[in-house]
Amino acid sequence: MNEVSDIYNKRLLEYADKQEIFNINILNGQYTLDNVASCLFDIDTNSLQNENVTLIKHLRKFFEIDLTNIYICITMILPPLTSYVGKKGYSLLPRDAINYITNLVNQIVNRRRPHLERRNDFIQIMVDHELEVKTDQKLMKAKETTGETESQQQQWETLKKTLTDKEIVGQALIFMIAGYETTSVLMSFFFYNMATEPTIQEKVYEEILQELEDDEITYEKVSQLRYLDMVINETLRMYPPFIRFERVASNDYELGNYHIPKGSVISVPVYPIHHNPHF
Ligand code: HEM
Repeated sequence: MNEVSDIYNKRLLEYADKQEIFNINILNGQYTLDNVASCLFDIDTNSLQNENVTLIKHLRKFFEIDLTNIYICITMILPPLTSYVGKKGYSLLPRDAINYITNLVNQIVNRRRPHLERRNDFIQIMVDHELEVKTDQKLMKAKETTGETESQQQQWETLKKTLTDKEIVGQALIFMIAGYETTSVLMSFFFYNMATEPTIQEKVYEEILQELEDDEITYEKVSQLRYLDMVINETLRMYPPFIRFERVASNDYELGNYHIPKGSVISVPVYPIHHNPHF
């Protein structure tokens, strides 16, 4: 992440030196993708230096709302039918992009499984877990016969779950989709707020100078920047990257005067809640 951040910093300084107008959202997308890809697969997408990255082109497709896509229309108008339409083979995500990412993840997992190479990333955690489970399985088999309690057995049943190849691709896909657009959109609105609120920008700058000085930037030090944290939270309130999400009621529930029957889909309108003066 430090290397990616150095390149990002360099690009920002270049624009500043040339006094050039540029699209910060594109730069933030490249920065976020390079970081997510490095944490997930330990690969250098290097999109900050090379705009023609196939992965970024495919990821962008996930965020282009295509109203001719029957799955998207159903999700928006009749959420309860979403799972039915999904079973019929329709998908929210474009096929070519899913195929590209599936191949990419499978190739990486297949290289890691024989344990010929080790990396410090999300895929490695899943592959290591698989190996640990196989080793522990033998140990537990022996213990099963020596009177384990029921809760110890249940705990083990949960821990021994490994992911199938399809689940690994699914996790990787969610990780990329969930991390890419959300973070880059937040960063872009943060910069927008800084540009339109110079007094606040100055306070953020002063805090960073005071707290970080010339030391190396670490997670712990960044966590101490309380004013920056407040500004980021306020940016998330003003411009939430997730404007709505859904939950399904697992039981009948009384919420004030409302009766929510089991199975109902509840939409949480994040944006209106964040902008309602009542809250
Ligand atoms: C400002 C940045 C972010 C925001 C605002 C954000 C927001 C959210 C929200 C609201 C959810 C819940 C969605 C739901 O359950 O309906 C969620 C879930 C999730 N986010 Fe984030 N997120 C951000 C960054 C990230 C990053 C950087 C990653 C990983 C690289 C990430 C990974 C995930 C994952 C794995 C889930 C769970 C998805 C699931 O339920 O299967 N998010 N995020």
